[in-house]
Amino acid sequence: ASTDQPYRTGFHFQPPKNWINDPNGVMVYKGLYHLFYQYNPKGAVWGNIVWAHSTSKDLVNWTPHEPAIFPSQPSDINGCWSGSATILPGGKPAMLYTGIDTKNSQVQNLAVPKNLSDPYLREWVKSPTNPLMQPTAQNQINASSFRDPTTAWLGPDKKWRVIIGSKINRQGLVILYKSKDFVNWVQAPMPLHSAKDTGMWECPDFYPVPVSGKNGVDTSLNGPYVKHVLKISLDDTKHDLYTIGSYDNLKDIYIPDKGSVENDSGLRYDYGKYYASKTFLDSIKNRRILCGWLNESSSVADDIKKGWAGVHAIPRQVWLDKSGKQLMQWPVVEIQKLRTNHVSLPSRLLKGGSVVEVSGVTASQADVDISFKISDFEKAEVLNPSWTNPQLLCSQKGASVKGGVGPFGLLVLASKGLTENTAVFFRIFKGQNKYVVLMCSDQSRSSLNQANDKTTYGAFLDVDPLHQSLSLRSLIDHSIVESFGGGGKACMSARVYPTLAINNTAHLFVFNNGSEAVKIAKLNAWSMKKAIIN
Ligand code: FRU
Repeated sequence: ASTDQPYRTGFHFQPPKNWINDPNGVMVYKGLYHLFYQYNPKGAVWGNIVWAHSTSKDLVNWTPHEPAIFPSQPSDINGCWSGSATILPGGKPAMLYTGIDTKNSQVQNLAVPKNLSDPYLREWVKSPTNPLMQPTAQNQINASSFRDPTTAWLGPDKKWRVIIGSKINRQGLVILYKSKDFVNWVQAPMPLHSAKDTGMWECPDFYPVPVSGKNGVDTSLNGPYVKHVLKISLDDTKHDLYTIGSYDNLKDIYIPDKGSVENDSGLRYDYGKYYASKTFLDSIKNRRILCGWLNESSSVADDIKKGWAGVHAIPRQVWLDKSGKQLMQWPVVEIQKLRTNHVSLPSRLLKGGSVVEVSGVTASQADVDISFKISDFEKAEVLNPSWTNPQLLCSQKGASVKGGVGPFGLLVLASKGLTENTAVFFRIFKGQNKYVVLMCSDQSRSSLNQANDKTTYGAFLDVDPLHQSLSLRSLIDHSIVESFGGGGKACMSARVYPTLAINNTAHLFVFNNGSEAVKIAKLNAWSMKKAIIN
């Protein structure tokens, strides 16, 4: 990030210029990670979509390749939209993706590598029978709402299954197709799942997670030792929502657990800006990894001026929380090799009303991990039972609104006098019979530039502050603040565009704007080295 490009990233994925959106077809092949993504080769706004392609040995440093899949046949001549990789028997990758055809209908296509001995898989050939799935008069599928095939999985009948995002009026659904040979696909009589009044479901993802442990398992695995996750990207609100449930592979239906709902009051991968994500099984390290897109919060005019838009989040390992009720997410460990200039604070009390600078790290490109221990809850505000929307609560009770226990946390990408700062913090309330932890990311003072979207984000964090310490990790990267509360129980990503707190003029602080003192149990911070990205 130079002075004229202060918002470019040091360690988050982005191409040298132009627009990017969804990660596509992420997979491992011959020991290399492959990432494809929605890309406009011609500019900083969405359009002319092709699958750009990069590979990596470590999910941190990336080598660019020529676009892998681009419009070339009637079934994708108007765009090559999102899709996913499936590793077929014998280790052969196959890409199912959405093509926009000559009539501007959304159809599903197949592409396979031209040369399996090339570890970079630079060339792809399209199936001569494309499209493999398409809207017809019989199936009544809406030609403008039929997209984003998932990784396919094998059922007990040895047939492949894949789901595709769709809607019928306001009902969101995932249409199920089956195939014996991966080429001839037959629509199942029932969708795998649907929900009323949710609007279009984009970029679905469907995978098993073991009931215990952090390992990932093959997408085709089912049985008593796994739960299933169905994630959908809700077009209406631009949020990635997931439910945890069971997959009945005889009836081919997915049933979310009681209380697991696919709307904005349910679970989200990220309570900030994060969209169109998908997972893949990392067969090198037996873990499941989640990749997602962080869109800009700047104006289109500013995007055009800087010549680019969109970055990807740091890939996250995902696993089922012990409670079985939510996922846990944590940045892949490989990112830690960029850490340098370690700074730590000894355990200390942070009095109400105090701001302490953490110096010694490059605050515009850093990894910060802090944990707090609360021992006195007397001044905790009582949670009004009507305060059920955490984001709203965070925007009403921002970092500058003095509280009882909290707000306390980090002020990142802060200018010297704090004119500009992004506040990531906790606030603790007295609930019915437990303490309730609110986690917030407050962008309201992130930039003097008024053209940015500075919405405040918030989530309730399922941590008991009476018995556990409260941890917060933030990955700070010039225009990105990606935060993880409670060891990965709630994630919150923000895009911010400081005008004063850029490069070496950015500062990092710990603050407590509550009246009760809180203890910093530990704080570790590092500058992050620049990754070699594209
Ligand atoms: C999600 C999405 C997908 C579509 C792609 C087009 O961001 O709208 O539904 O396939 O982007 O670029």
